[in-house]
Amino acid sequence: MSEEELVQVADALVRHGIDGVIATNTTLDRTLVDGMPHAHEMGGLSGRPVQTKSTEVIRRLHQELNGKLPIIGVGGVDSVIAAREKMMAGAELVQVYSGFIYHGPRLVKDIVRNI
Ligand SMILES: Cc1cc2nc3c(=O)[nH]c(=O)nc-3n(C[C@H](O)[C@H](O)[C@H](O)COP(=O)(O)O)c2cc1C
Repeated sequence: MSEEELVQVADALVRHGIDGVIATNTTLDRTLVDGMPHAHEMGGLSGRPVQTKSTEVIRRLHQELNGKLPIIGVGGVDSVIAAREKMMAGAELVQVYSGFIYHGPRLVKDIVRNI
């Protein structure tokens, strides 16, 4: 999503009275996995390779929304620190997906206990 599209999405969310937004999802960008054995498989990339990019989008979206609706931060949440980064960028909640696959329920416990 371009910068301009992000601004348009934020505006639409507010105008239509949406209750909350999950940011982000998977990415088609393969830059961080370039050269790896399965880098060119079809579909969206999740987990650690989307972590930083996702946090930056959350930060930018938070600036645009200015607290008008809650952001659920997702993308590479695989530790307490990663969850905190999402919250410091403006997420009120975090969603765990790939991290849950690799670390199991323990990850949720760690995050809840430390935030
Ligand atoms: C196997 C798989 C299936 C997914 N299915 C959906 C889906 O149906 N709807 C959706 O909004 N996101 C879907 N996602 C995206 C996740 O909800 C999440 O946004 C993304 O994986 C990034 O988070 P993560 O790095 O913690 O995995 C899926 C992700 C994976 C890996």
